[in-house]
Amino acid sequence: MKILFLNGPNLNLLGQREPAVYGRTTLAEIEARVRKRAAEVTAAIEFRQTNLEGELINWIQGAKGAFDVIVLNAAAYTHTSVALRDAVAAVGVPTIEIHLSNTHAREEFRHKSLIAPVCRGQIAGFGAMSYVLAVDAAINLG
Ligand code: DQA
Repeated sequence: MKILFLNGPNLNLLGQREPAVYGRTTLAEIEARVRKRAAEVTAAIEFRQTNLEGELINWIQGAKGAFDVIVLNAAAYTHTSVALRDAVAAVGVPTIEIHLSNTHAREEFRHKSLIAPVCRGQIAGFGAMSYVLAVDAAINLG
């Protein structure tokens, strides 16, 4: 089982970015927690972050045939990007949408995800644990 974790804009700033919303855990620390869980369930992990929408799209396209599951925290692009949604739909690699925060409990513009309808499911609101839970969700996808 090969799982591709993709992180969108501003997630490189985790740890210092709005800690009241996102906590104090850095993206590197989250990656370490994901790798620990993945090792326990013998899954292989690739973990990437970019601030660029087009780079996320290239990575999603490149996942076909190379990864079994994509775990996607598209950050703000979740709420704006038809292009990202179309990439997920086009490639057909099962995709799990994740968020640190509970986007449904925040500003109204975060309630809508353009990505969710083309994903297998969504995990949101558990902080860094959303990422760890996504490993288990990925290995249990039918
Ligand atoms: C986020 C939620 C998004 O609304 C926001 O734009 C982010 C982070 C999260 O993980 O909680 O950048 O995806």
